[in-house]
Amino acid sequence: MFHARLSITRDDIVAPVSPRLFGSFVEHMGRAVYTGIYEPGHPTATVDGFRQDVLDLVRELNPSLIRYPGGNFVSGFRWEDSVGPRADRPVRLDLAWHSVETNEVGLHEFADWADAAGVEIMQAVNLGTRGIAEAAALLEYANHPAGTALSDQRQANGRTEPFDIRVWCLGNEMDGPWQIGHKTAEEYGRLAAETARVMKWVDPTVELVVAGSSNAEMPTFGSWERTVLEHTIELVDHISLHAYYEEKPGDLGSFLASGVGLDRFIGDVAQIIDEVTVAQGLDKFIGISVDEWNVWDQTRFNEVDKEPLFTGDWNTHPRLIEDEYNVSDAVVVGSLLISLLRNSDRVNMANLAQLVNVIAPIRSEPNGPAWRQTTFFPFALTATAARGDVLAATIHSDTYDTRAHGTVDLADAAVTATDEEIVLFLVNRSSTDPLTLEVDLAGAPAGAVLSAQSLFAPEGGDRFATNAVDHQDTVHPVELSEVTLADDGTAATVVLPALSWSIVRLSARSAA
Ligand code: AHR
Repeated sequence: MFHARLSITRDDIVAPVSPRLFGSFVEHMGRAVYTGIYEPGHPTATVDGFRQDVLDLVRELNPSLIRYPGGNFVSGFRWEDSVGPRADRPVRLDLAWHSVETNEVGLHEFADWADAAGVEIMQAVNLGTRGIAEAAALLEYANHPAGTALSDQRQANGRTEPFDIRVWCLGNEMDGPWQIGHKTAEEYGRLAAETARVMKWVDPTVELVVAGSSNAEMPTFGSWERTVLEHTIELVDHISLHAYYEEKPGDLGSFLASGVGLDRFIGDVAQIIDEVTVAQGLDKFIGISVDEWNVWDQTRFNEVDKEPLFTGDWNTHPRLIEDEYNVSDAVVVGSLLISLLRNSDRVNMANLAQLVNVIAPIRSEPNGPAWRQTTFFPFALTATAARGDVLAATIHSDTYDTRAHGTVDLADAAVTATDEEIVLFLVNRSSTDPLTLEVDLAGAPAGAVLSAQSLFAPEGGDRFATNAVDHQDTVHPVELSEVTLADDGTAATVVLPALSWSIVRLSARSAA
């Protein structure tokens, strides 16, 4: 049995919980859109052709904001192709994913779906093959009330009121050589600055996200952020970072500590923001938008899937990166959410990439069922329970050594609190032993345990267990029985199972 101690106090607030921290991502890639959210012939299809079974799961997952339409796809996308009468929309090659894009779903259809799902749209513009004029035109089409050619065209296409999209990404992963229209930091920084300037002239109320690094291992990481921010800091509101993690052979320990890697990545970007802000004599907050994050088996993608993908047939919605997630993956997704909450003073938006079928918490089969992957549960439970303020969570824990991140705490935690409720998000990174967590609540007394749930290996202890089409409910959270609260509410003890993610909801004493 391992041990850790967690202390919280109501006065020690990191930041208010940002609802946009629980975003997700729908790219025109693989089966995310076609046979994912949209499948007109499906038995559950709505009159608009969207899958009701998937929509119900999206509502249960509870994302707040969805990035759209890419991803790498956006860097070759002509938005004009995807509006207007469907019969007139051209079919195009999508060079990013070696696919055929039919444009059956475009901005209007996606916005209707987003309304039904209750999510905000985060729209990306193409700064790969296109530039200032097309980005400004799309923004005018989407957000200008009426009386111009583009806004009148939107109305003629069926949307009288503006889409009123608040958050816009200035391109995608422009630092990556795989990106259509890949640029140097200097080239991208200049283009992003001029695009931002014009977009803010079209609609000064939008929030703009400039593209940071595609991952922390990029050779240009750091210098990219600095150069891009030097050009854009006065014109944008956020800078993105993308972070995917995977279990490398024989190194479960580092994988389980992925949250430590994300903490450091965020810290490094925050430091560059601060340095550029000071150097330019500005008093301005630039948020970090972690607008792609997840577990993704990229080794398999690079070694097995990638080549056939780019040399094979052109298909309309091929099966691409439909990773099947196991228990360890779900624990890491829960840890990454803890990291995002912990860094809420700098990170105000984040998007689990992606939503359906493509490295996604929700899977669906054409003309078949839709189900929850293991990673669905930590996301859904966190997105639904994290409210109020993020409190600083001080941890003293037994540790272990990792190859990638050095010595790491076995326990990890984030805490949120409202006047009514205190919620603990907890991880035990030990793959072998349970961990007893003593929680010091003297600074935030609790009244009662409202609920306690944990996700860990199902009976038999198989951490590789998954949910799949023929066993859709093998992995799911169960009640965590070993939670005790002192009579005066100032201390609690939680026994965390080996390799687990847990959520404990306590009523606040004043509200008990
Ligand atoms: O989410 C899948 C892909 O990962 C996105 O298209 C791209 O932005 C990233 O490299």
